[in-house]
Amino acid sequence: MNTASKADSDRATAPVTWVIGANSGIGLALVDALLAVPTGSVVGSSRRTDALAIRADAYSARCQVVSVDVTDAASLAAAFAAIMARWGRLDRVILNAAEYEPMRLAAFDPALFARLMAVNFMGVVQGIEAVRAHFIAAQQGEILITASVAGFCGLPYAAPYGATKAALISLAESLAPEFAQHGVRLRVINPGFVRTPMTDKNDFDMPGMIEPAVAARAIVRALGRPGFEILVPRGFGWVMKCLRFLPYPLFFALTRRLLRADTP
Ligand SMILES: NC(=O)c1ccc[n+]([C@@H]2O[C@H](COP(=O)([O-])OP(=O)(O)OC[C@H]3O[C@@H](n4cnc5c(N)ncnc54)[C@H](OP(=O)(O)O)[C@@H]3O)[C@@H](O)[C@H]2O)c1
Repeated sequence: MNTASKADSDRATAPVTWVIGANSGIGLALVDALLAVPTGSVVGSSRRTDALAIRADAYSARCQVVSVDVTDAASLAAAFAAIMARWGRLDRVILNAAEYEPMRLAAFDPALFARLMAVNFMGVVQGIEAVRAHFIAAQQGEILITASVAGFCGLPYAAPYGATKAALISLAESLAPEFAQHGVRLRVINPGFVRTPMTDKNDFDMPGMIEPAVAARAIVRALGRPGFEILVPRGFGWVMKCLRFLPYPLFFALTRRLLRADTP
């Protein structure tokens, strides 16, 4: 087989992964980690695409950029159509887009809850809807939802964000068995603290913080392997998981220590 036809045949069989929420942080690092694997194509989506465009220029044969706003179902449907038009297949989607704002009780803001639910939770629901029929017809594929260890239990100042992530974990637990009946794996990624524009908003110590490239490599290693949950980093992830099982007096004794001295 000559080099050109070998490249064509590799492209026909190599998996295509769509990362949504990919222009910075963990999503962009995932695109880089996937492109570092010798085969497979990567589609990166988010509202802004400037950082992704640099990757697409460098890996024009393996990388596509499609702008998406997850709050707009039509933009997700159009992006899915563009992916199928270019590659003729989609094997995996990583639903990673989210926003984060800490909120104090003094600034309690229903509009913030609504906005984060629209992006973080409904954005994932609409992402699943964009690919659901395709994966079920294919009777295979992998759908990964980026939730968070912040979804394991309620933490001070994180009510709007934490609620969206708890909802995502519940969504994934609910849908995984039915998707599995169709040969489709629905999985959840639960990161701890990762240094990204999102955590740049925090002004407190973040234990176990890792770099996005480290998180992305761990996630990419776990792709296609068994297991429902991808916990990164695992040590801090398990500490957070254990918090959820503490009796409430002990749980609140610990989480009260996260309150700031300047809070009334
Ligand atoms: N960093 C952490 O410590 C941490 C911990 C646990 C979980 N996570 C989760 O990991 C994921 C990635 O977060 P990150 O830390 O890498 O933050 P990030 O750098 O802020 O990345 C968020 C991405 O989502 C995109 N996005 C936001 N709103 C969108 C929308 N409406 N439509 C499409 N894309 C949208 C952003 O691009 P545009 O704004 O250009 O659209 C950006 O590419 C999130 O789900 C986050 O909740 C992060």
